[in-house]
Amino acid sequence: MSMESAALRRVKPSPTIAVSAKARELQRQGVDVIALAAGEPDFDTPASIKEAAIRAIREGKTKYTDVDGIPELKEAICAKFKRENGLEYARTQVNVSPGGKPVLYNAFVATLSPGDEVVIPTPYWVSYPDMVYLAGGEPVFAPTSAQTGFRLTPEILERAITPRTKWLILNSPSNPSGAAYSRAELKALGEVLLRHPQVWVLTDDMYEHLLYDGFEFATIAEVVPALYARTLTMNGVSKAYAMTGWRIGYAAGPEPLIKAMAKVMSQSTSNPCSVSQWAAVEALTGPQDFIGERCAVFEKRRDLVVSMLNQASGLHCPKPEGAFYVYPSCEALLGKTAPTGKVIATDGDFVSELLGATGVAVVQGEAFGLSPFFRISYATATEVLEDACARIQRFCASLT
Ligand SMILES: Cc1ncc(COP(=O)(O)O)c(C=O)c1O
Repeated sequence: MSMESAALRRVKPSPTIAVSAKARELQRQGVDVIALAAGEPDFDTPASIKEAAIRAIREGKTKYTDVDGIPELKEAICAKFKRENGLEYARTQVNVSPGGKPVLYNAFVATLSPGDEVVIPTPYWVSYPDMVYLAGGEPVFAPTSAQTGFRLTPEILERAITPRTKWLILNSPSNPSGAAYSRAELKALGEVLLRHPQVWVLTDDMYEHLLYDGFEFATIAEVVPALYARTLTMNGVSKAYAMTGWRIGYAAGPEPLIKAMAKVMSQSTSNPCSVSQWAAVEALTGPQDFIGERCAVFEKRRDLVVSMLNQASGLHCPKPEGAFYVYPSCEALLGKTAPTGKVIATDGDFVSELLGATGVAVVQGEAFGLSPFFRISYATATEVLEDACARIQRFCASLT
């Protein structure tokens, strides 16, 4: 008999964490590795946020808090939604969890029964399908393509919905493709959703602040007010405030759903770290200027990476609207032979030969449900990116 539960047997460990771990292991062995696999800003948490946490410790804010967040942070989150998204939420409509990941997980555990379906557009963030499995639901993949800009269209969405559909996940800007939805595109998807009242929307807005070329952020509960009552709008401080290690994510939505999520937390994690919650209050209410400054740095890096990858023979790299990822196609390289003699049959072969030959660690598209592509995270220093892209160019040129 297996030690693992039936639900866990359907789950695979996070492939992005696996690639990062492999890169770290090679580094420990003295290999010259450039890891472009992790979804983490290379910037530090701003000093004012760190100071707020230190103050919280000194003031003894180190005890259990309300299970789904302190009132001060919920207040700051309501103000953020109003200020940046034109969305009105009361404190009772807000959940704070130990990271964005647990927000999603708590929502699924709170709502999915066996057989319930969750529509997940591909390419997807690696954790969505497995979180659905863990919660006992069924992922239903809605395939996008480079031709649709890696965006769901109303037709693709309509085809994926069944009477068992409970949730649609939207993620804009997207991990892994960087694609973002305009207001008009969200409105068109909203028209489909209005015809299917059983479908709730979980919008993962984690990369809201990382948009380029003046692209304007939009979120579906604001664009289609009729969907407000069945939308969970999720966000967090991890990416925008460079606070991945602090573990604070949040969401707002209908009160019964928020209560159900708190019930899950009350019997599992309890509250998110008290000190991190105070740091997040400072993040959301303190100076915001550094976000735009860092975004401008990311935009330059995106341009550099897109341009250098498009100069690599056999790669095609679309220019994404946001986040800090690119999702190039390696289709033209399939069937070629690497210097080791291995024939490159899949994007998995491509990334593993690339790592072996050049030390550059990226993640195969298969992990995100759409091949033959790979994901590069460009949240790293510009010189390192130049070096990595030059190595990728040399590797592509070495294939025969
Ligand atoms: C699309 C997306 N959603 C959610 C998360 C989770 O963020 P957190 O680190 O706050 O759990 C990530 C992190 O990589 C992400 O890329």
